[in-house]
Amino acid sequence: MKSKGSLLLAVVVALCMGACGGGSGDKESKGKFAPPPVAKPLTFEEAKADWKNQKGLGPVTNVDLGELDDALAARGKEIYELKCTACHSPENEKLGPAPKGILERRTPEWIMNMILNPEEMAMKDPIGRGLLTKYNTVMANQGLSQDDARAVLEYFRTLK
Ligand code: HEC
Repeated sequence: MKSKGSLLLAVVVALCMGACGGGSGDKESKGKFAPPPVAKPLTFEEAKADWKNQKGLGPVTNVDLGELDDALAARGKEIYELKCTACHSPENEKLGPAPKGILERRTPEWIMNMILNPEEMAMKDPIGRGLLTKYNTVMANQGLSQDDARAVLEYFRTLK
């Protein structure tokens, strides 16, 4: 009996709140009850379409690519072959996607953040989350320094 009564009360309160927040036309009370606007996270498809604005989550906010630096790319290739080829192959899918042509679908900042901060990227970044769903393996953080990640990025520029 008692619980039925409180359930009813809860329903009445909920209905009232709905009415107050919704159609009463009273702007002041609407403002009070309306939840603060929360940006809806992009879906994988939306984020991929918007890739030029997607910088990912992590320490890297701005990369100036400049002219291709062959020495840096060669160093990046060595790091890649040592630390990444267990799961990646330059031109074909393996456990993870191939980096070939990656600069035509991801920003330099996003790529470096993926290398440096893969766990958070897989949980919170819309493209990172979509990739995790697709590949079903969390990319391992290989503990690269920011300079090493930049060198790998330079190597990726040579994979067209
Ligand atoms: C344990 C396996 C593993 C290792 C080691 C690994 N990765 Fe990954 N990587 C993945 C997987 C799996 C994905 C797809 C995203 C996901 O599922 O988290 C991925 C995604 C990526 C992406 C995004 C590709 C795209 O098309 O958007 C980049 C860039 C990347 N890895 C670079 C690297 C680099 C550089 C290294 C070495 C420093 C490395 N990865 C080491 C498994 C790995």
